[in-house]
Amino acid sequence: MNILLTGGTGYIGSHTAITLHQNNHNVILYDNLTNSREETLFKIKTSLGLNLKLVIGDVLDTKTLEDTLNKYKINAVIHFAGLKSVDESITQPKKYFENNVNGTHSLIKAMKAVKVKTLIFSSSATVYGEPKYLPIDENHPKNPENPYGASKLKVENILKSLSMSDPSWKIVCLRYFNPIGSHEDVNIGDNPVGTANNLFPIILKVLKKKIKILEIFGKDYDTNDGTGIRDYIYIMDLVEGHLAALNYLKLNSGWHDVNLGTGKGYSVLEIIEKFQSVNNVIIPFKYSPRRKGDVSESYADVRKAKELLGWEARNSLDVMCKSVLKYFVLEQTSKKNVF
Ligand code: WQD
Repeated sequence: MNILLTGGTGYIGSHTAITLHQNNHNVILYDNLTNSREETLFKIKTSLGLNLKLVIGDVLDTKTLEDTLNKYKINAVIHFAGLKSVDESITQPKKYFENNVNGTHSLIKAMKAVKVKTLIFSSSATVYGEPKYLPIDENHPKNPENPYGASKLKVENILKSLSMSDPSWKIVCLRYFNPIGSHEDVNIGDNPVGTANNLFPIILKVLKKKIKILEIFGKDYDTNDGTGIRDYIYIMDLVEGHLAALNYLKLNSGWHDVNLGTGKGYSVLEIIEKFQSVNNVIIPFKYSPRRKGDVSESYADVRKAKELLGWEARNSLDVMCKSVLKYFVLEQTSKKNVF
């Protein structure tokens, strides 16, 4: 298939592009490069000999989107493009709705114009908000605690209404829990151009000595050690979930929502301990107040992904932590080799 990846040079988009190509799909990346780098494509080319086509454009630019869909005879779209910082969404909610929601309206308009009706949406477990029960299944109430999550939920509902108005649309909303790690042969880890807010990019900042100490946001949650619990999933397992969703849509239409997680939660302290022990490093940390918008505990009920898509995450936390460190080491050596 000819597949357009909006936000395709981003963390998840670039990893997905590699796997789709390796599964004989023609991949076109569409990105405005505000939170990612063209350098990612250079790394993929030098490491894998893979030349990915990039169209530099904004999802709000419907005409360029439509021209791109036409030019490359796109059959399906994976919509990664969107702002993704919980913190930033709290201080700039309008920017998040403008980009994430209006950007999707623009994409739908362009897809309708060229009669492309297969869409996978990069959603987030943040749509659930504070868990009412655990593990969280797809029917869990949706009460996002921040504008980022609210914007993702709004897009899901727009896509649900689109499917109700035209049941021939083929739509899967993939609710990511916490993707981490990097491709084993290309060092293209989670390294946003903007400020890194996520736990693992900040652990890397500590390793790079860009910051002295990791702040643990909250030691008073109702969890085993008082720190926040999340469901960390290896990026390449998450990518396989997209492939499974694409295969599912070959034979099925309608609107579908699926969690992509491991079904296992780890606290921040457990992550630090595991990261230190598998990598033989020390991550200095201190406790700080809770971060606004954070929930106490979140991990996925993974049954629907297995039953509907025939997919499940396979890699352990040890593999993920080693992958994060490998990315750090490769980054450091590639910087040294530049001079
Ligand atoms: C994880 C845990 C923090 C940083 C968000 C989005 C989600 C997805 C991933 C896009 C929490 C704690 C973190 C730090 C800390 N985004 N933490 N110190 O908030 O669960 O999810 O990012 O796909 O949709 O909602 O991820 O990595 O920011 O935090 O203690 O410096 O680590 O409190 O418990 P989060 P995170």
